[in-house]
Amino acid sequence: MKLNLGCGSKKLEGWINIDSVAEFKPDLVHDVSLPLPYSDDSIDEILAEGLLEHFDKYLRFIIFYDWIRILKVGGIITVVVPNFHKILRRYFKFHFSTFLDNIFGETMWETKKYLGHFGIHKWGYSVKTLTEFVQKFGMEIIKINKKDLSITLVARKRKHIKKELIYNIEINPTVDKKGFSRGSLSVKQAERLISSFLNSELSSR
Ligand SMILES: C[S@@+](CC[C@H](N)C(=O)[O-])C[C@H]1O[C@@H](n2cnc3c(N)ncnc32)[C@H](O)[C@@H]1O
Repeated sequence: MKLNLGCGSKKLEGWINIDSVAEFKPDLVHDVSLPLPYSDDSIDEILAEGLLEHFDKYLRFIIFYDWIRILKVGGIITVVVPNFHKILRRYFKFHFSTFLDNIFGETMWETKKYLGHFGIHKWGYSVKTLTEFVQKFGMEIIKINKKDLSITLVARKRKHIKKELIYNIEINPTVDKKGFSRGSLSVKQAERLISSFLNSELSSR
């Protein structure tokens, strides 16, 4: 079984195409901020093209863990994200405001579907930071490719890792006036705060 997460209009034959926006007519309408409805070790391959950057520096750990959770040992994940480092360099060199779409995301996207907050980028990656992030989940990097303004990373699940390992990762929640990271919050603490936020969002609907 293969999952194409955040498929948008790029639906793939032979894959289960998943997106939060129903207008794309995916096989499954699902907001991947919530756990995917698949059991551990059940998926052969995952593609997430243009999706990971839509999750902030806390939520990305919880979401990516869920993707790896459902992947079989030996299963492959392909992640494609904007090359934030390269985009910023281009932006400062050429000053084209079109690069801002690549930085912040485009909410009225391609087929003119309004994606609202699902279209906004909340984090940025370079080859180095994407590699380091994926390796935290015990993944073996098979290939990493820089093309145009994107990074494509292909990785294999070597073994199961316990969620506790991810829970212990410390994130700097704030920066000082000079831009240096300050404070510390574990992924476990972040998960608690995020789930109480999501619960209050859901109950207010
Ligand atoms: C930049 S588009 C990429 C679409 C397609 N994968 C491609 O490469 O052309 C991002 C897609 O992710 C979807 N998306 C964003 N946040 C999501 C979420 N929380 N759950 C599921 N899909 C999400 C959006 O609806 C959108 O279709």
